[in-house]
Amino acid sequence: FPAEAVAKRLLQWYGREGRDLPWRQTDDPYRIWLSEIMLQQTTVAAVVGYYQRFLDNFPSIEHLASAPQEAVIDLWAGLGYYARARNLHAAAKVVVEQFSGVFPQTVDELQQLPGVGRSTAGAIAALAFAQRAPILDGNVRRILCRLFALQQPPRSSAAEKQLWVWADLLTPAQHVHDYTQAIMDLGATVCLPRKPLCGQCPLRELCQAQRLGLAQQLPLKQKS
Ligand code: ADE
Repeated sequence: FPAEAVAKRLLQWYGREGRDLPWRQTDDPYRIWLSEIMLQQTTVAAVVGYYQRFLDNFPSIEHLASAPQEAVIDLWAGLGYYARARNLHAAAKVVVEQFSGVFPQTVDELQQLPGVGRSTAGAIAALAFAQRAPILDGNVRRILCRLFALQQPPRSSAAEKQLWVWADLLTPAQHVHDYTQAIMDLGATVCLPRKPLCGQCPLRELCQAQRLGLAQQLPLKQKS
């Protein structure tokens, strides 16, 4: 599979079409971690204001770690999924107390922080530390299901394993920061869940679902 062609096309597209979002101006792991946690279950449009307000109140991980829990929850009010706020606070304390305030840099260590799963750990490693680490969030899962025309429910454990293999295969050694942003943007703006804009997609010629006329049908719905 031409993994290099995928990365190259994505990077070119991102140079033209990538969104300028507040957390893209930084490689500060604290800011990147915060944005990734906020974006886990919430849209970009809803997150932007919260992100700025949160940083105004807690400009560093030390500020966050030493804040009372209620202050953190209060600033989260409206974003939903409050376990994220509690985990965020707990993780800040872990970084300050166990890592002397220095954010861990490996996917394995990052994944041990409360609220940081494999994909979020990969995103932080790639975006803050320029490591070649794959991500597999909802957007990337959908892109890969289409690109490879995966004809299995994507949340099955066999599919999940296969998707991580593909995510890893596609992640380039160079420009991993922009590549990671690019694939998230493609999922958010072109490879949409219900009506993908295949006519605008830089991966169109490489996409198996497109070739088979299945882009709208994939990913398969989970049987319930
Ligand atoms: N969704 C998850 N992480 C994101 C990011 N860094 N930019 C845009 N959307 C995202």
